[in-house]
Amino acid sequence: MEKKPHFVRREFLPREVPSVSLALLLAAVLLLNALLYLYLSKFYISLGRVETDHGLCPFGHFKFGAVKNCSPWLSCEAINREVRKLKCVGEGAVKKVFLSEWKEKKVVLSQLTNSELKEDFLHGLKMLKALQSKHVVRLLGYCEQQFTILTEYHPLGSLRGLNETLHIPKYKSMNTWHRRLMLAIEYVSVIRYLHSSPLGTLVMCDSNDLDKVLSQYLLTSDFHVLVNDLDALPLVNRSAGRLVKCGHRELQGEFVAPEQRWPYGEDVPFEDDLMPPYDEKTDIWKIPDVSNFFLGHVEGSDIVRLHLFDIHAACKKKDPAERPSAQEVLDTYKKVLTLLIQEAAMPGTREML
Ligand SMILES: Nc1ncnc2c1ncn2[C@@H]1O[C@H](COP(=O)(O)OP(=O)(O)OP(=O)(O)O)[C@@H](O)[C@H]1O
Ligand SMILES: *[C@@H]1O[C@H](CO)[C@@H](O)[C@H](O)[C@H]1NC(C)=O
Ligand SMILES: *[C@@H]1O[C@H](CO)[C@@H](O)[C@H](O)[C@H]1NC(C)=O
Repeated sequence: MEKKPHFVRREFLPREVPSVSLALLLAAVLLLNALLYLYLSKFYISLGRVETDHGLCPFGHFKFGAVKNCSPWLSCEAINREVRKLKCVGEGAVKKVFLSEWKEKKVVLSQLTNSELKEDFLHGLKMLKALQSKHVVRLLGYCEQQFTILTEYHPLGSLRGLNETLHIPKYKSMNTWHRRLMLAIEYVSVIRYLHSSPLGTLVMCDSNDLDKVLSQYLLTSDFHVLVNDLDALPLVNRSAGRLVKCGHRELQGEFVAPEQRWPYGEDVPFEDDLMPPYDEKTDIWKIPDVSNFFLGHVEGSDIVRLHLFDIHAACKKKDPAERPSAQEVLDTYKKVLTLLIQEAAMPGTREML
């Protein structure tokens, strides 16, 4: 009888040591988690700060660079007087884009090239005015009579050049799965913004192939994604039963969503009037292809792909109604980023806990 408590005690003693180290381990893990949380919340705050930068100026005004005060958008007179064209840096179907100078700052002057596309140009300008936010290139002025738009200049150009940019020595440190996933997150954030914009649900129609999609977005020098070309953004109004069509011509290929292709087979010639309209879920269909481009082929990008497999499969559902919303895709992307940062910071913690 005397021995029993002794025995229990002895049994207890060796167990005490691992439980202490386990507690220490747990404390260390919790501390790391807390640090990680602080790091992540700082990261999200820094994203949030960009958002308020635009908001600080009232409608019709802008500020950028080191300038503290908001200025009104430049008028025709101010543009003609104060803006000096330097060189052409881009040309699309609608606009010719000139690197220009305004008050010793680099800006971009876009001019209509094809007078048949006046409507598109003016629609793009209207959207640019209405959608100024952290997701959209900053508008500095415009002149409707002369069909010119003045915007902020981004030397890294459109996302089409991402591959090349990431191979410049200066930006090599950005060529990681982490940065690349963040670009994908920003891209999906833009789509989410357009799908729930102040004007309603807008569809990014200038998107019939990957190159086209990429050329509509700019990469800022601090590696954020901005939508630049808003010439083709029709409005879906579900409650009014209003759907859209991206252009009047037949669309083909795997890149566009199935509902954007002619449904009546090769024997029936394409006719715009017979082509059924569709909604913003065409943008969701394209997300996996665009994200795949962003992820590229660097160390870790295949692990990211693996984690995005299910949400991307859902984006590729044939029935548009079954595809997730941009918000759902964004939430999943952010979760995957958080998870992967956690795992990269503390390899093996999941097995420990
Ligand atoms: N603010 C800017 N900073 C740097 N490059 C720019 C800027 N704006 C436009 N560009 C370059 O010019 C190209 C064409 O611009 P934009 O897409 O506005 O023209 P567009 O005629 O509307 O094109 P699309 O044929 O797609 O309709 C862009 O893809 C980009 O490479
Ligand atoms: C980007 O670069 C990688 C490696 O240099 C290459 O494999 C890939 O095809 C490129 N993608 C595009 C779209 O240019
Ligand atoms: C959608 O249509 C309804 C009914 O016609 C209208 O009241 C509403 O303002 C429209 N919404 C948008 C965002 O245009």
